[in-house]
Amino acid sequence: MSLKQKTSDLKRRMREALQGGGEKAILKQKATGKMTARERVVALCDPKSFNEYDLFVEHAGRDFDMGDKYLPGDGVITGTGTINGYPICIYAQDFTVAGGSLGWMHAKKITKIMDLAMKLKVPIIGINDSGGARIQEGVNSLAGYGEIFYRNTQASGIIPQISVILGPCAGGAVYSPALTDFVFVVDKISKMFITGPEVIKSVLGEEISMEDLGGARVHAETTGNAHFFAESENDCFEQIKKLCSYIPWNNTKKAEPFPKKPPRTRQYNIDEIFPSNPRQPYDVRDVIRSIVDDSEFFEVHELFAQNIVVGYARLAGQTVGFIANQPLVLAGVLDCDSSDKAARFIRFCDAFNIPLVTIVDLPGYLPGVDQEHAGVIRHGAKILYAYSEATVPKLTVITRKAYGGGYIAMCSHHLHADFVFAWPTAEIAVMGPEGAANIIFRNEIKNAENPDEMRKVKIKEYKDKFANPYVAAAYGYIDAVIEPQETRNLLIHAIEISYQKDETGPSKKHGIPPF
Ligand code: HXC
Repeated sequence: MSLKQKTSDLKRRMREALQGGGEKAILKQKATGKMTARERVVALCDPKSFNEYDLFVEHAGRDFDMGDKYLPGDGVITGTGTINGYPICIYAQDFTVAGGSLGWMHAKKITKIMDLAMKLKVPIIGINDSGGARIQEGVNSLAGYGEIFYRNTQASGIIPQISVILGPCAGGAVYSPALTDFVFVVDKISKMFITGPEVIKSVLGEEISMEDLGGARVHAETTGNAHFFAESENDCFEQIKKLCSYIPWNNTKKAEPFPKKPPRTRQYNIDEIFPSNPRQPYDVRDVIRSIVDDSEFFEVHELFAQNIVVGYARLAGQTVGFIANQPLVLAGVLDCDSSDKAARFIRFCDAFNIPLVTIVDLPGYLPGVDQEHAGVIRHGAKILYAYSEATVPKLTVITRKAYGGGYIAMCSHHLHADFVFAWPTAEIAVMGPEGAANIIFRNEIKNAENPDEMRKVKIKEYKDKFANPYVAAAYGYIDAVIEPQETRNLLIHAIEISYQKDETGPSKKHGIPPF
């Protein structure tokens, strides 16, 4: 054959492979509002930047008549591309080919692109749309999953790993995402479960729809398995692009700096946002917006454990990770879910050289039988561990309440914060004045002629003594009591002054966090 003939043979083979599961399967995919795997990759990557590899890989199934079947690309697309001009490795499962199910060669394609991402030290993005382990390939499918999970774990903390759930993902198809750093879901399209409604019905006799069992909202709001919720696939891809603009390619780099921009203070003015009444709630996200560049705050886990807020913003062009108690929800208490949420975010930032800014206003850990029995001790310990372990610059601003364990946990000096600032409105104490007065002045209150009057007197006495930042400042636990309007300038100074911070913890194989 001449070069021309061989080239035209190549083109024919490519056309055949690029047809995926064929017209009927593609129409079925589109009818459910889903893009095809290739459309997704192209929509996510910068225009014309995606290059596909291993198009001609064939599946290795031999049982149940699989040997006669042609599964183009073995149901997964792999390649490299760029997002915002920065390199990434990517794979997308093709549900039109055997339901995107994972056989041995399908897994080999994924592990090969993961290995490349590790060699090139660039993020790996996985678009998951799969019925799980390919049943016909038996233990080889399970082996494939094991190899992926192993690589997810090895890559953890070295390159960012992003998972996108764009279809019904069952069984093994949800465990790789669970091992990655960020999981994106799309309303009505994403479903995640270990076993689907049919298995649940046959084993437990319980009936539930796929959406109610493991739909996008369930995972974004209730389980916390998803970090980002999108209305559509395109909305989801825009969110991924935005996330990529805030994080570095790998753990040896810092996030790319952006031009410095002032906050939009006309819209976000601290004097208007922060209430004079210490009992009045406010939206801490507006406080963050009043401080950061262009008032842009990109929230992670927005719908889950809303009593704590975490996300990215920039200070003088540098990415920082914010962790802030949210007085609007449960007065911003720490509980099992909010501790998990914050601890995970802190560990990502620490692994990827993103300074932490903590905004504190909380009454402490949430008391109650439910929380105690749900393991608030174990979960709450995660945030202590994550902050203590983190060696990136750690800056803390106490705006109002910092009571009890909450004071310690929210990146106090005692967990080795680098800078702790407090607003004059800060109250740093073992507990709130009402609770404290009832305990330490119990006898005086009980024996008083007018107990209610005496309680008020004692509460005031306690408040005058402790409900301020000056007792803590007198011990050096606060570096500076600052005017709220000065917060941005001081944080920028602290970030700039900490730029060369290079601290490492004691040498060990690894710690044992309270997972
Ligand atoms: C082989 C599969 C498959 C699988 C789907 N298909 N899942 N083939 N192995 N796991 C095939 C179907 O046979 C069908 O082929 C095509 O993909 C499309 O599937 P449909 O069922 O028609 O699609 P839909 O109605 O949208 O339902 C999607 C689904 C359902 C909910 C995902 O297919 C399903 O329940 N699949 C099985 C899910 C499951 O139990 N997986 C767990 C595997 S065990 P045709 O030829 O008809 O088009 C596992 C263990 C790993 O993953 C554990 C690691 C820790």
